[in-house]
Amino acid sequence: MNQPLLQPFDLGELRLPNRVCMAPMTRCRADNPDTAPTELMAEYYRQRASAGLLITEGAFVSPRGVGYINVPGIHSPEQTQGWRRVTQVVHEAGGRIFCQLWHVGAMSHPDLLGGRLPLAPSAIDPRDKIFGPNGHTDTVTPQAMTETDIRETIAGFRDAAANAVAAGFDGVELHAANGYLFNQFFARSMNRRSDAFGGSIENRTRFLVDVLEAVGAEISLGRVGVRINPSVHGLSGITVDDETLPLFEHLCSKLSQMGIAYLHVMEPFNDISGLPLPQGVSMCSHFRRFFGGPIISATDHSRASGNAALAAGDADLIAYGRAYIANPDLVERFADEADLNVPIRETFYTPGARGYTDYPRRGEGTTPETVVGDRRVSDRYGETRRKMKSGES
Ligand SMILES: Cc1cc2nc3c(=O)[nH]c(=O)nc-3n(C[C@H](O)[C@H](O)[C@H](O)COP(=O)(O)O)c2cc1C
Repeated sequence: MNQPLLQPFDLGELRLPNRVCMAPMTRCRADNPDTAPTELMAEYYRQRASAGLLITEGAFVSPRGVGYINVPGIHSPEQTQGWRRVTQVVHEAGGRIFCQLWHVGAMSHPDLLGGRLPLAPSAIDPRDKIFGPNGHTDTVTPQAMTETDIRETIAGFRDAAANAVAAGFDGVELHAANGYLFNQFFARSMNRRSDAFGGSIENRTRFLVDVLEAVGAEISLGRVGVRINPSVHGLSGITVDDETLPLFEHLCSKLSQMGIAYLHVMEPFNDISGLPLPQGVSMCSHFRRFFGGPIISATDHSRASGNAALAAGDADLIAYGRAYIANPDLVERFADEADLNVPIRETFYTPGARGYTDYPRRGEGTTPETVVGDRRVSDRYGETRRKMKSGES
């Protein structure tokens, strides 16, 4: 079968050999005092270099943007040095890699910030949980950012982009999805500001636009992607309201004009029935009308759904998350229409190589234990594979 997923794609100046992207995924392996990328992390990305495009796990742009333990940053020389090794091995293996730039805003805790309060658009507790040094912990009421805080945070993104360039990345992606800082600025439920960064739709998108302009001084916007999830509801204090859809439509038109590399659209992972959002069509196909550049579609894709979304013209590229955790050779497996390894949830965020760099390529290697659903079985991956939706349809 001539699969659209396996066709090349020109992403600006970058020629991607296929349309399969590795979605950004936090794996919490930067377990060292500098939270710098390690040799193990370089190996993990190297194993997956046959993807059309790798997007790294979210990397914190500043110490105040931290929201989890053992997650790498991209604000210090040690971290930049660690990332340089990652890009080097990926490039040597023939791959291309973007760095996802992340600031969690209110989704942090003083335990992670040396006792300081998280920064956010407004002093509103998202009433959610974070994962810090004391395990799952309730969020607190953050400190509303002053205009100086906003300027400093924008400068932090700019400096992180400069570090990404120095580290040899092919581009960066701004994490504007899933309830974190950018998403908090977008949402009326988390942004009650009365200055130029709050109130109207234009004002609530200004922070992202200003960050892009600052980042654009370090790296061409043709190498900067933006990830959005317009459907976030009931998470991180974000609620969908009657201005959510118009805001994202406005934002996508603006991003289109700015000529960014791509728009990375997450399909809903929460129930959106009854909400004022596009119903019965993909988010990608809806936002296609507002954004003229390349679109990456993410969330729950199988091989079949990825090929279908590309064939329908809803998206240009497809991002795979959990399938990439368990299948370093995902592209080759798609090409062969092969079964996929099952990702093991228990080791998504645990330190070490187990459940990280030990997933076998097809026909290679074993691991002693895996989990299928809630059934623990002691055997080999090869014997516990199941067909993902792609193989079944
Ligand atoms: C372990 C794990 C960590 C994740 N970390 C991030 C992250 O750092 N940044 C981000 O934008 N999305 C993150 N996501 C979401 C994924 O990028 C992806 O959108 C999600 O897994 C749905 O795609 P899938 O159904 O192909 O797994 C994470 C998902 C998983 C499973």
